[in-house]
Amino acid sequence: MARKKVTIIGAGMTGGAMAQRLIELDICDVVLQDDPQFAGTMHHGKALDESQAGPWSGYSMQISATDGWDETANSDVVVVTAGAPRKPGMSREELLNNNAAIVRAKVAEAVKHSPNAVIIVLSNPMDAMCHVALKASGFPRERVIGQGGMLDSARYRYFVSAELGVSPQDVHGYVIGGHTDTTMVPVVSQTRVGGVPLTDLLPKEKVDALVARAMRGGAEIGELYKTGSAYFAPSAATIAMVESVLLDQRRLMPCSVLHQGEYGIQDVYSGTVCQLGEGGIQRTFELRLDDDEKARVVDAANKTKELVALITE
Ligand code: 2OP
Repeated sequence: MARKKVTIIGAGMTGGAMAQRLIELDICDVVLQDDPQFAGTMHHGKALDESQAGPWSGYSMQISATDGWDETANSDVVVVTAGAPRKPGMSREELLNNNAAIVRAKVAEAVKHSPNAVIIVLSNPMDAMCHVALKASGFPRERVIGQGGMLDSARYRYFVSAELGVSPQDVHGYVIGGHTDTTMVPVVSQTRVGGVPLTDLLPKEKVDALVARAMRGGAEIGELYKTGSAYFAPSAATIAMVESVLLDQRRLMPCSVLHQGEYGIQDVYSGTVCQLGEGGIQRTFELRLDDDEKARVVDAANKTKELVALITE
């Protein structure tokens, strides 16, 4: 059986953390792709350092780095982290055209070498960058997926779990809509803790406060780090997606997908629950939303559409 391969474009804090998580799963070879002009020799250092951890961490797959593309050939999954990260106080939207140019160029090269890959996009503003990646790749929507809702849901589930003193694994809740501080939609009406509705367990003011904190989750980390943005939770969220695709686990994960009728939305990237497995998105699920949640999901898609219209070629 041929070994699976995953290319991670961008070997910054997030790309590096992803590479570590992924190689430690020992399910595929990992290639870190970056440019000497941005990364110097950092990606080579990270790959070699991580390779030397293999004897003790216990993996047999290989991790390597490249400035070019030949080594990325025939990747099963390509993760796009490239682009400027958010600086503290900066919105994800402010990164728009700078990152669009980087994502466009990177994806165009990547797909020449890996025409059958599934692309997972993290670069911000994430939903808009999915549009850029979709166009640059020429791939169908099933193979260009955004990671935002995975991260936002992780934050939401964590805050709920910490408030209730339960494991975050037993909080089932999804954040859908857009990956911005104002357009993400934590779906409170469908959140369950051990099968019990969240609204039965906490008063409305408390739930509202948790939701507000989850929506500012990325900004809060940026304020704490002072020099950059989150990477532990983003890398964990992404590698869970990669694993589900590579192993055809068919997990149900909140991801950004080009909507084709979900929630009445057409041709816009937005978050909803997706079944991820071989070939990427195998199926989408529409959550049963209350009226306010539904209106906010539609509004989120409209905001993404407005942002996409500002992308210059
Ligand atoms: C975050 O939410 C930067 O989008 C990233 O942490």
